[in-house]
Amino acid sequence: MHNFDFRNPTELIFGKGQIAKLSERIGKGTKILMTYGGGSIFRNGVYDQVKKALEGYDIIEFGGIEANPDYDTLMKAIAVCKENKVDMILAVGGGSVIDGTKFIAAGANFDGDPWDFLIGKAPVCKAIPFATVLTLPATASEMNNGAVISRRATKEKYAFHNPDGFPLFSILDPTVVFSLPQRQISNGIVDIYAHTFEQYLTTCINTKVMDRWAEGLLQTLIELAPELLKDDRSYDACADFMLTATMGLNGFIAMGVDEDWSTHMIGHELTALHGLDHGVTLAIVFPGVMSVMRKEKQGKLLQYGERVWGIREGSVDERIDEAIRKTEQFFRSVGMKTRLSEHGIGQETIDTIVKRFRDRHWKLGEGGIVTPEKVEMILKERL
Ligand code: NZQ
Ligand code: ZN
Repeated sequence: MHNFDFRNPTELIFGKGQIAKLSERIGKGTKILMTYGGGSIFRNGVYDQVKKALEGYDIIEFGGIEANPDYDTLMKAIAVCKENKVDMILAVGGGSVIDGTKFIAAGANFDGDPWDFLIGKAPVCKAIPFATVLTLPATASEMNNGAVISRRATKEKYAFHNPDGFPLFSILDPTVVFSLPQRQISNGIVDIYAHTFEQYLTTCINTKVMDRWAEGLLQTLIELAPELLKDDRSYDACADFMLTATMGLNGFIAMGVDEDWSTHMIGHELTALHGLDHGVTLAIVFPGVMSVMRKEKQGKLLQYGERVWGIREGSVDERIDEAIRKTEQFFRSVGMKTRLSEHGIGQETIDTIVKRFRDRHWKLGEGGIVTPEKVEMILKERL
């Protein structure tokens, strides 16, 4: 196990009816910017619950943050923050609204162009305090300090981390999951599966607690998926789904392990270039990473196959093939396509992505083993 420092200051407020607690956490005279997305919160009652809980507060609203939050939209929100000198931001939405809010919260305290946070030209500055009311379990943005921002004008999508940019608190009411369309449930399941994988499917360095936690999250997702995909999904399944999402990327399964975020980085390019949903990109790329990196990840692939899918028979390659097949089958069972060609994407996109990674001198994965050459092999395997 590697040495590690661990800190996660976000308070989780979890359960039915918990949105009402907003006024207990936010002082009366606080000037709030409330951020949200394209309008789902008006249809599922979350907006009304937030407004009721914060009756009498000074709130400026900023709606219209799109899925894969766009730089141009967020810059407008930064201008609103600067003009009105807001004390805190309350994000009400999924990962996109929360990520967008993290960008706004830091950008509002910055005199230059906050795009520089994303391309490593400027350190991320201290953010305005912010909190969240989560409406979509998937990203764990509600309990981490990362954010991913898109720039449609240049077809780019990058992540940044802000050391002090955790939400103050996040309210997780599982009843918000009732109104999610199947598409977003599928995206969430695959996103959480991928986050868990990226902190698990790396080296075997004796991290027994982390391994069992990660395998537990994967098994929970496999068990919950059929119930979650029903239109009348149960509260208990929604609650476990929400907690699985948060635990997948709040640092708790990353203690002392190696990580490989290559699937996400390749996936971000597919979203930037073709507009695919985040979860959709991961369902395509992951089986390719497993297959192309099978030698480097052999120990963990075998362990995963055995502990998660009960694969014990056959040669090493046969067991790894079966583990990949089971994974791809699981993604397909939740309604995902797993091939580039199924989305009309071909060699031209592969060339573009590989060139971008070469130009950026990116070497991804544990110890930089996922080179641009490997990325090309991974994507070709997914045609
Ligand atoms: O915009 P509205 O109208 O609210 O609709 C949203 C959006 O269209 C809708 N939705 C959200 N909650 C709903 C709902 N519809 C019905 N009922 C509800 N309760 O769902 C759509 C997708 O929302 P979005 O926030 O985009 O989804 P998600 O949470 O999957 O976020 C995706 C973004 O997060 C980034 C992704 O790259 C992508 O940009 N990620 C952020 C991470 C992080 N901060 O740690 C890590 C992830 O790996 C990921 O990269
Ligand atoms: Zn993700």
